[in-house]
Amino acid sequence: MFIQAITLFPEIFKSITEYGVTGRAHQKNIWRFSAINPRQFADNKLGYIDDRPFGGGAGMVMMAPPLFAAIEEAKKAFSGSLKNRVIYLSPQGKPLNHAKVQELAQLDNLVLLCGRYEGVDERVLEHAVDEEISIGDFVVSGGELPAMMLMDAVLRFIPNVLGDIESAQQDSFVNGLLDYPHYTKPTEFQGMKVPEVLKSGNHTLIAQWRLKQSLKRTLTRRPDLLEKRNLLPQEIRLLQEIEQEAKATEQSIS
Ligand SMILES: C[S@@+](CC[C@H](N)C(=O)[O-])C[C@H]1O[C@@H](n2cnc3c(N)ncnc32)[C@H](O)[C@@H]1O
Repeated sequence: MFIQAITLFPEIFKSITEYGVTGRAHQKNIWRFSAINPRQFADNKLGYIDDRPFGGGAGMVMMAPPLFAAIEEAKKAFSGSLKNRVIYLSPQGKPLNHAKVQELAQLDNLVLLCGRYEGVDERVLEHAVDEEISIGDFVVSGGELPAMMLMDAVLRFIPNVLGDIESAQQDSFVNGLLDYPHYTKPTEFQGMKVPEVLKSGNHTLIAQWRLKQSLKRTLTRRPDLLEKRNLLPQEIRLLQEIEQEAKATEQSIS
C-alpha cells in the first residue's frame, strides 16, 4: 500500500513511519509513505496557502488551488490502479470504524488530506475528495493525528505489518465483540491473582473462558454490538449463564 498525506507538517508523520510496528514495516518497504506539502504549490513567494473566509468570521481557510494541485500530484502515483481513495480527515465525516478500516486495507493507494485552521475550501471537498472520515465527535487542531490514527488502524490489516497477524484478528471489534482480559507474569501481585483457568493448559476451557469474558464485556460496555450480531448457540448459552450469575450476585447483595 502507498499512503500519501497532504500536509503542512510532513515531519509529524515520522512517528508512524519510524516507530513501532508501523515503523518497522515501513523500513522493510511493506508499505510506503510520502508527504506532499501544499505550500510547494502556493502562488506566492511566502508560501501562503490560506486566506480569510468569504463572508467574514474567525480563522483562516486552506485555499483550493494549492490543494487541487497537491491532490493531482498525489494521483500521479496511482499508475493504472483502480483501488485508490482520496480522503479528507474531517470532524464532519463518517465516523471511522472497524468495517471502514477493513475496507480501506484492500486499497492500493490512500491520499489523506489533512486540514488545518478552519478547514479547507468547500470546492476541494466537492470536486477532488472521494470521502470524508472523522475520528470522533470532537475537534482537534489538524488532520495529521486523525490521518495517523487511520493509517495505524489500516496498516494492522496489511499482511506482514504485524509480526503475528492473529493478534489483529483477536482484537476488539474484529469478530463483533470486545476483546477478553489479558494477564501476564507474575501470577500473583499484591494479592491479585491470575484466573486459574488461564494457567490450566486446557485450551478448550481457556477458549470458552475467553469467549465468555468477551461476551460479558460487550454486554456491559457495548450492548449495541451484541444487538447487531447473529449469536451462535454457544454464545446464547454463555450469555444466559452471565445473566444468571449477575442475578445471583444482585440477590446475595440485597
Ligand atoms: C480545527 S479543525 C477544523 C474544524 C472545522 N471548522 C469544523 O468545525 O468542522 C482543523 C482540521 O483538523 C482536522 N480534524 C479536526 N477534528 C477532526 C476529527 N474529529 N476527525 C478528523 N479530522 C479532524 C480536519 O482536517 C480539520 O480540517
